[in-house]
Amino acid sequence: MITGKTKIMGLIGDPVEHTISPFMHNAGFKYFDLDYAYVPFHVARENLKFAIEGARALDIKGLNVTIPHKIEVMKYLDVIHETAWLIGAVNTIRFADEVEGYNTDGLGAIRGIKELTPLKGRKVIILGAGGASRAISFQSVLSGAGQVVIANRTLEKALKLALNLKDNLNVDVKAVSLGEELEKELEDADILINTTPIGMYPNVDDKPLVTSDMMHEGLVVNDVIYNPLETGLLREARLAGAKTITGIKMLIYQGIESFKIWTGREPPLKVFEEALEDEIKKL
Ligand SMILES: NC(=O)c1ccc[n+]([C@@H]2O[C@H](COP(=O)([O-])OP(=O)(O)OC[C@H]3O[C@@H](n4cnc5c(N)ncnc54)[C@H](OP(=O)(O)O)[C@@H]3O)[C@@H](O)[C@H]2O)c1
Repeated sequence: MITGKTKIMGLIGDPVEHTISPFMHNAGFKYFDLDYAYVPFHVARENLKFAIEGARALDIKGLNVTIPHKIEVMKYLDVIHETAWLIGAVNTIRFADEVEGYNTDGLGAIRGIKELTPLKGRKVIILGAGGASRAISFQSVLSGAGQVVIANRTLEKALKLALNLKDNLNVDVKAVSLGEELEKELEDADILINTTPIGMYPNVDDKPLVTSDMMHEGLVVNDVIYNPLETGLLREARLAGAKTITGIKMLIYQGIESFKIWTGREPPLKVFEEALEDEIKKL
C-alpha cells in the first residue's frame, strides 16, 4: 500500500518498458518490511537534467540509471564515488545531503564470478570494449586480477580501454583483435567474460566469438547476456567442460549492491532470484 510515508526509489532510462529490476527491488523491500516502492521512469535524453533536479525536489531516495544516461548523468551529481569515476559511468544514485553517484555493474559481474573462482592473480579475457566491458574490466583489476585482455572487433576501442586501465590502475593489460590473437590468449586464460550482444534474443543462433575448441576445462565462462539464460557461448563452454555463469548473476548482484547503497541492508540472493524466476520465463 502506497501512503504519504512511502519512500520512492526507481530507475531512469530510455526505454524502460521491459526492465525487470522492479521485481527484485520491490521483493527486497517486502522482505525487510520497508515502506519503499521502486518505479521505472522513462526519461528522454533532453530531459535528464530535469529528471535529476525533479527527483531531488520530489524527495526520491535512490535511482538506478540505465542506457543511454549512465555517462551523461554524471554532470548532474554532486559526488562521484571512486569506482564510478574510474569506470566513467554511474548506474546508481543515492539522494542524501548530496546527490551521490556509484557504479555497481562491475561489482555485480565480479560477485557472480567469485562464487566459482577467486579473481586474485587470474588471467581474465573480456570480449567487447563498450560500457559493460569498461565496468567489468576496472572491477576485475580492483578485485585483484593478475592480467586482463580486452578482445574487440574494433581494435582501437580495445586499445583505448587497455590504455585507460593501465594509466589508472597500473595493471598488466593487453588489447587484441578477434580471431587468432584471441585464440592464443585463451590457451592459458582462467576467466572469459562476454560483454558483446552476440547471441542475445532474437539473434540466439549467432555464432559465438569463442567456440568449444578454443576453450579448456579449467576455464570459467561468464556471459553477461541473460536473455536467453544459456547463450551459444555458454553452450560451447559446457561442451568444453568449462564452468559457466549466466548473465542473471550480474543483474542480480548489481541490484543487491544498489539496494545496499540505498538501505544499508543486504537482501538474500534467493529473494532477488525468486522475484525474477517468473519474469525470466516470460523473456
Ligand atoms: N547482465 C547484466 O546485468 C548486463 C548489464 C549491462 C549490459 N549487459 C549486456 O551487455 C551487452 C553489452 O552492453 P554494452 O552497454 O557494453 O554495449 P556497448 O557499449 O554497445 O558495447 C558493445 C560491444 O560489443 C561489440 N559488438 C557488438 N556487436 C558485435 C558483433 N556483431 N561482433 C563483434 N563484436 C560486437 C562492440 O564492438 P565494437 O567496438 O567493434 O563496436 C562493443 O565493443 C548487452 O548485450 C547488454 O544487454 C548485461
